[in-house]
Amino acid sequence: CSSGTANGDHDSCVCSVKHQRFESGYNLLGKKIRNMHVKIGRNDPCWCGSMKKYKNCHQSFDEKIEELRSQGHIVPDHSLIKTPEQIAGIKESAKINIAVLDEVASKIKEGMTTEEIDKIVYDTTTKMGGIPAPLNYEGFPKSVCTSINEEVCHGIPSPKVVLKDGDIINVDVSTIYKGYYSDSSRMFCIGNVSDEKRKLVQVVKECVELGLEQVKPWGFLGDMSQAVYDHAVANGYQVVRNIGGHGVGLEFHEDPWVGYIYKKGTQMVMAPGMMFTIEPMVNMGQADIFVDEENDWTVYTADGQPSAQWEVMVLVTEDGYEIISY
Ligand code: MF3
Ligand code: CO
Repeated sequence: CSSGTANGDHDSCVCSVKHQRFESGYNLLGKKIRNMHVKIGRNDPCWCGSMKKYKNCHQSFDEKIEELRSQGHIVPDHSLIKTPEQIAGIKESAKINIAVLDEVASKIKEGMTTEEIDKIVYDTTTKMGGIPAPLNYEGFPKSVCTSINEEVCHGIPSPKVVLKDGDIINVDVSTIYKGYYSDSSRMFCIGNVSDEKRKLVQVVKECVELGLEQVKPWGFLGDMSQAVYDHAVANGYQVVRNIGGHGVGLEFHEDPWVGYIYKKGTQMVMAPGMMFTIEPMVNMGQADIFVDEENDWTVYTADGQPSAQWEVMVLVTEDGYEIISY
């Protein structure tokens, strides 16, 4: 069945030879090529870059993945599994991301414009050697997203937008440092916020934390999703359906797409080394949303009721999860 190996299509292979893993290997220059269909032997260096023998490293991981795949589950490919070196780099990026959010937290107040928040983000990020990931990302004009009240996400900072007493605002910060990406967001309450809006902000934070508790190796993204969804709906809220989280680290937005309307036991398997965001947008009223026709970015609730979002960036570990940015 060499044709099967040549085109990488092992599913259609019907020969009796038990295939070894045909995933990543090393080319002649010694440069690691991930996700190429190169034969890897038990004593070869593992595809993950650990320099350990495959049999002592990710062989059992691959066997587990193949078992889950054969049961019909969606499984991550090797490109979604971060190496220890990549994880270290991404954590350096996240240090900046967290510092930027901390700086915003210490300065944000009534009367400030969202343009001033943008300047805090730009200045703090660049002083630490980073690049704000949103800036010029697919044409986004600023360094951060600032989304107030009925704005669901992707609000664009402006000198014309002034924070008022009673506003709730999401500040969504993303950083590139030495090529590694980090991404997390927080809500801030400005002055005297109504009990109703304060509760929304609090419940969405709880949604993220309940979702986090479901992050463990060999569970499913749907386990996390249902925990988020159930808590939002139990509080009378609706979860935005087609905007969600994402893999992150080597790029701003990687696979998998991470939604919050799915049932436990469904969606992609969570494997150690995967990194993604949990960032549900939860509306006080209906789930429906629309996109600003003029700037083509800002998303609003259709019914004009408030929306809130928190975003955490998480790594799946051997025994649970590690928060990378929050
Ligand atoms: N930070 C957002 C996220 O959490 C993405 C914003 S894209 C931008 O995925 F261009 F608007 F910045
Ligand atoms: Co994100």
